[in-house]
Parts: sequence; structure tokens; C-alpha cells
Amino acid sequence: MHQILVTNARLPDGTGPVSIAVREGRIVEIAPQIAGAAERTIDAGGRLVAPPFVDPHFHMDATLSLGMPRLNRSGTLLEGIALWGELKPHLTEEAVMERALRYCDMAVARGLLAIRTHVDVCDERLVAVRALLEVRKRVAPYIDLQLVAFPQDGLYRHKRGEAGLIEALDLGVDVVGAIPHFERTMEDGAASLARICAIAAERGLMVDVHCDETDDPLSRHIETLAAQTIRHGLEGRVAGSHLTSMHSMDNYYVSKLIPLIAEARLHAIPNPLINITLQGRADTYPRRRGLTRIPELRAAGINVALGQDCTMDPWYPLGSADMLDVAHMAIHAVPMTSREAMRFAFDAVTVNGARAMGLPDPTLRVGGPARFVVLDARDPIEAIRLRANRLAVVHDGRVIAQEAPRTIALDLPGRPQTIVLSDYAPAAEDRPQEGPALA
Ligand code: FE2
Repeated sequence: MHQILVTNARLPDGTGPVSIAVREGRIVEIAPQIAGAAERTIDAGGRLVAPPFVDPHFHMDATLSLGMPRLNRSGTLLEGIALWGELKPHLTEEAVMERALRYCDMAVARGLLAIRTHVDVCDERLVAVRALLEVRKRVAPYIDLQLVAFPQDGLYRHKRGEAGLIEALDLGVDVVGAIPHFERTMEDGAASLARICAIAAERGLMVDVHCDETDDPLSRHIETLAAQTIRHGLEGRVAGSHLTSMHSMDNYYVSKLIPLIAEARLHAIPNPLINITLQGRADTYPRRRGLTRIPELRAAGINVALGQDCTMDPWYPLGSADMLDVAHMAIHAVPMTSREAMRFAFDAVTVNGARAMGLPDPTLRVGGPARFVVLDARDPIEAIRLRANRLAVVHDGRVIAQEAPRTIALDLPGRPQTIVLSDYAPAAEDRPQEGPALA
């Protein structure tokens, strides 16, 4: 007896229709037809069955704190950091846990089952660290939650930055973080990267840096991060988050920089929802978009994963744990509208995020864990277009969230009484094929 049998499914690479059989929490067969009874059958009806979403860059200690103690009036990164500083002394472990657990409920509802969250260590009490270590334990049965020791106010700029980071790692935080562009000088920023890469090498940990989240084209900490990664033999274990200054850099300099990033096998984690709003605030017109050079990074073979960064906190007033929103924004803000690039945007919020976090490849395969999402869309691009409903979220063979298709009642003369948004497009197989890419 199968635990779950999914029938009539399409996979992200276009394979289908297939059935997927699950036993004891693992996928045991993927084939056009699968015989045998099942405790639970899910007819996907030709819809997409994809790996769960992954968010490789988030701030769970600040999430859902919008308006506490006040709103960010300028909309800038720096006012956000100042505002968080006002809230920090008032944090309690209980309140941080309560907000984080509520966010995790939302994440599961949206099929988001792996999250890397930065956690502020510039706090003598380490309230957020203790709270999120407990949250990591509580959600472990259904979310892979990874914590980054993040000196929000600077490893050297804040008097407790380095001490707090070491204490957090000693308490069991997984990844080493930094924010070089917020240190007092470029030199301090470079020194902070040398220090955290040494710590990571010593302890066998990964690194994830808030790197060059600025419009300043001379903010080049990514170069130092790549060099320190190579020096310490950390290739493949280091991520550069944001990298927004790259959009304003000189092209010749970037032609040297990108091969260096590739040599260090850094992961790039742009955060399009946040940086389209935070960056360019000092510009008049034309106003910069504030995203790093995603197509060029991809072309160099660098793993690019997209992060959400914030949901209703001092830096961003919107957000809903929906990684399809993140992919949707990236497609617009880059812009990247070829079918290949839109298909990449889906990978960037699923498999590429897992790679950046050092998790196993979540692609559905026989013998792998039964973790997947049934989406109310026929392919990844349609999923992004519709921010498709998650009809079922499955974790290790258990359905942990369910949602109905989006059906809307109409009252119009001579028109249907109801429409289902996912039915309002040509069938996938009828769609025009993309021609060769234009130079
Ligand atoms: Fe961040």
C-alpha cells in the first residue's frame, strides 16, 4: 500500500503526465502509470508538482514587527537598521519566537520548507539567537531552518560584534555572517571578511555575507570575499547576498570581478523585493533598479539563488512568505523575460537556493524524500505568473498544507458564472516555442 499516490502530474522539466508513489516518507517510483492502492491519492490534474520552495536569505528575528516602534519613513537600509536598533532593547525571547513561529506557519502554507535566516548577534543578551535556536528545534519536523550569526551593527563597528558572533556560534548557530559595507571604513570591512573567513575555516562552517548592499560603485567587498574564500579553501561554501553595488560598477572592473567570483565558487543571493525598494533612494532620475547583474553572473556559471530577505519588518512593509512573488519581481526588475530566464527564476527559488544553503538537491527523484508542492499551474512560468495556489504541500510523505484552486464567482451577462484563473491560458503544449536567443 502506497502512503501517497500522486497521479497526472507534470514535473518542472516538462516531463509528464506521471504518477509519483510515496512509501515511508520517500519517493519509491515515478512512472507514467503506477499500480497499487494508496492511503491517499492526489489527482494533480495535469498540474505542476515541484520541489518545495527555498528561501536562502531571510531575517526571522525581525519578521512581522512592522510598525514596532514606528515605521521607516525614508525607506532606506540605514533607517531600517536604526529602527531595528530602537526595537532591539525591548525584544523578549517569547515575542521573537511567537513572531517567528507565526511566520513559519505562513511559510509552510506557501510550500516554503527550507529557510536560511540571519540572526542579529549585536545584543548582549543574544535574545534573538536564543529564540531562533529554539524555533529551529520546534520547526525541525517540517522546515530546514539554518541560522547565520549576523553582526547587524558591524563586526568591528559594534563593540560586541565579534564577541556576539563567537558566542552565537558556540551556542549552535550554523553559518558565519558579516556586513562589510556597514563597518566604519572600507579597511574595516575588508578586515571583517578576513576574520569571518578564518573563523569559518577553523570551525568548518559556511559563510553568508550581506555584501555591498549599496549603490556605491566603489563598494567592492565582494572582491575581498572571493579572495578570502580562496585563501581559506572555502570554495563552494560561501554566499554573497545582495551584491547591489555591482549594478553601478564600471564594466571593465566587473569583467575582472565576475571570473574571480566564479573561481571562488561563491553563491550569489540577490533579494529583488527588498532591493528594488531600498536602492536608488538617493537618485533623482534616472533611478537605478538596485539589483545585481544576474544574467552575467549566470553566464559565468555562478549559482544564483533568490532570497526574500524581509516580510513586514523595519526594511520592508510587504511580503507574505511567497517565493513566487520573489521570482516574479526578479523577472521584472532585472528584466529577464525569455522563457529560459523565467524558467531559471523558478529554479532560483527552489533548487538553486538549496545548493546555496548546502542542502541536498531537492529535485524529485526515486529514493529521495517525499517533499514536494502541487501547484495550481501547469508549468513553472505559469506558477510565477499566477503566484499559483499550493494545492498540497507534502513533507516526508505527510500532507502538511492544502489549499483549493483559485475559483472566482462572476456576475456578468452572458459570461461564465465562475472562472478558475489557472484555466485562462493556452495549454502548455500549444504554446509557441522560443526561437534562438538574440545577441
Ligand atoms: Fe538581509
